[in-house]
Amino acid sequence: MGWNPWNFAQCTDWNETLFYRTALYLNTSGMASLGYRYVNIDDCWMADSRDAMDNLAWNASRFPSGIPALANYVHSLGLKLGLYLCAGNKTCALKPGSLRYEAQDIALVSSWGVDLVKVDNCYNEGLLPETRYVRFTDAIGNVTRPILFMLCNWGEYIPALFAPMFANSWRTTYDLRDDYTYMLKMADWNDVSHIYAGPRSGWNDPDMLQVGNGNMTLDEYTTHMSLWALMKAPLLIGTNVLNMTNATAALLTNPEVIRINQDPLGIQGFKRTSEDGKEVWAGLLSGGAIAVALVNRLPTPALVTVQWYNVNLTSETGCRIRDVWARTYVTGVFSSNFTANVTAHGTKLLILQPALQIAYNKTANASAF
Ligand code: DGJ
Repeated sequence: MGWNPWNFAQCTDWNETLFYRTALYLNTSGMASLGYRYVNIDDCWMADSRDAMDNLAWNASRFPSGIPALANYVHSLGLKLGLYLCAGNKTCALKPGSLRYEAQDIALVSSWGVDLVKVDNCYNEGLLPETRYVRFTDAIGNVTRPILFMLCNWGEYIPALFAPMFANSWRTTYDLRDDYTYMLKMADWNDVSHIYAGPRSGWNDPDMLQVGNGNMTLDEYTTHMSLWALMKAPLLIGTNVLNMTNATAALLTNPEVIRINQDPLGIQGFKRTSEDGKEVWAGLLSGGAIAVALVNRLPTPALVTVQWYNVNLTSETGCRIRDVWARTYVTGVFSSNFTANVTAHGTKLLILQPALQIAYNKTANASAF
């Protein structure tokens, strides 16, 4: 979990101030305590060419204090710094690429204090991702600093067939757009790989959040956030938190939604049923509860029903139901199925708490979900 300015700032005229201010804000606002700890720098941080030693260099007008100083600052706030590289001969924005410089570049950024690398896929000379990315894996293994490896190999249908050997997460999709229909298309694409995600392999990455960037309605962003949480996607905020609205902040900081995303079992929820624009997505959580998203793709409100037999419960099982966005329990005990009226393009995010799980948790874990 963290933040990356690419979705709202790309290569526009930002400079290091954005990173200093955002890091401080994540710390003081409490967002870091909720889990948003990575402050990531994307493309366009580099000078146009390598230096006399053939090393990558930062763009001195964007980073007048230098990246090591930023890393120190970020670390002093208890946060971590991420940096962008590319497994091609140029980055997508035509800055120096790391193909054939993998070990040198990883050693360099590690010496700067970088904690995460995102490695892009442009200008890859047609070489297989397996050939290019393994060199970063080896290089990361050869430095003493722990570095999280986000592989950004967009465009593979099922990257999880090779990526778990190399990286901590891998991109399953093209770049996410701030567009409801496109967002759902990418969610479906990420869903194809759901069985491969988990704490022992790594995470499917359907790209950074667009929540707050202005082109979706609140209900549409609720669907976006609900699905990314349920799919155990990396939650990288892609909006400017320094001027976000209260509604955006509420979507990004609901602790129960984050808890679904960060559940230690790490099982990626997946689509169970789809009928006439009404969908049920669900995933098992640790302790036996089940996260369920009732998604209404229609442009009008609709009743969406979850049947217990579609979400790994026997019909008789009595459940309490937590409405995660509302942060309230639905009154009553439910068995067999549950129907909710879901807003146009919106999502009801629920946690079904089976009776046996509640009994177990009463003794084993007092913090009721
Ligand atoms: C393509 C990636 O998918 C994006 O996330 C971003 O890093 C850009 N490249 C930067 O050029």
